[in-house]
Amino acid sequence: MFRHDLLQGKRILITGGGTGLGKGMAQRFLELGATVYICGRRKEILAETEAELGRATKGAIHSRPCDVRNAQAVDEMIETIWKDGPLDILVNNAAGNFLARTEELSPRAFEAVIGIVLVGTINVTMACARRWLNHGHHATVLNITTTYAKTGSAYVAPSAVSKAGVEALTRSLAVEWGNRGIRMNAIAPGPIPTEGAFSRLLPRPELEKFAKDRNPLGRFGTVEELANLAAFLVSDGSGYVNGDVITMDGGEWLQGAGEFSALGRMLTEAEWAALKPRKTSGSD
Ligand code: HXC
Ligand code: NAP
Repeated sequence: MFRHDLLQGKRILITGGGTGLGKGMAQRFLELGATVYICGRRKEILAETEAELGRATKGAIHSRPCDVRNAQAVDEMIETIWKDGPLDILVNNAAGNFLARTEELSPRAFEAVIGIVLVGTINVTMACARRWLNHGHHATVLNITTTYAKTGSAYVAPSAVSKAGVEALTRSLAVEWGNRGIRMNAIAPGPIPTEGAFSRLLPRPELEKFAKDRNPLGRFGTVEELANLAAFLVSDGSGYVNGDVITMDGGEWLQGAGEFSALGRMLTEAEWAALKPRKTSGSD
């Protein structure tokens, strides 16, 4: 799909890059010639991913244990990365989420998710951007949100408010920093099977089937599809895309919004036939 040197010479940090979509993006960026840094809280998971991807691809990968909720720890991580040279690309992908009835959530439950998703994104973006702006270094940020950032969603309220905040941050900074060479965009994916997301949000086969059946394409997205879109958006080829949120969900959220969309799964052939106009005598 891309020239093999699309990201040659680019230095990229992916938060939450040890697992799931972050790992998939790391693999694709390495294949396209980038130097990739991944961070997360679990040192062992990061080390495993570093070893696995380092063996499989020609690019260089480095792991940095770091909790993105902690602004000081983030600044220290960014400082160690900058010692090798400035980053060119940041992907804010780390997240926390779970299903719960909102009235049952404790303050700490809200804080846990908002801390990772919204505060974490702010911490890493600010630590990089201060350095980019100080030195006039051109760069791009890609935030991974989700389709319900724009609609909201029952049972994942902390995630919905956090992701909506990330999209507002994306649009705000795209305008504020655009003329100083920093591009900001986001991808809003629908469901893509990963252990982290599906174990928490679609934990039973019937929930997974329900989610798949309601998608217009009748399937989930793939890690490869997400990684390809991400590669395009962080590359110089998309240089005029700024402040946008690209939805990648097979049309799922649109079908959820359409008043009559669910009829396709409810009405039988006979019921559709009964809706057709009846022929009256004299008409053709
Ligand atoms: C209610 C819960 C809860 C649950 C945790 N809490 N899980 N409350 N229901 N299921 C509460 C705890 O009781 C505690 O409050 C507070 O949240 C913090 O919990 P900890 O376990 O101490 O937090 P922590 O170790 O920081 O873990 C954060 C986490 C965890 C978010 C709770 O799930 C995590 O680490 N997730 C990271 C990976 C992840 O979530 N990936 C999925 C991303 S998918 P109290 O008051 O008891 O102390 C995604 C979009 C998917 O984001 C979209 C699909 C379409
Ligand atoms: P995942 O595998 O659980 O990824 C989340 C990553 O974030 C993990 O690697 C985790 O590593 C890291 N992380 C969590 N808290 C952190 C913290 N405080 N500091 C640093 N890293 C932290 O889930 P995923 O499905 O790949 O999700 C990736 C992104 O896609 C998320 O932004 C998610 O909201 C978004 N998304 C996913 C889907 C989907 O269906 N898969 C759909 C829409 C959007 P540690 O636990 O080791 O810290």
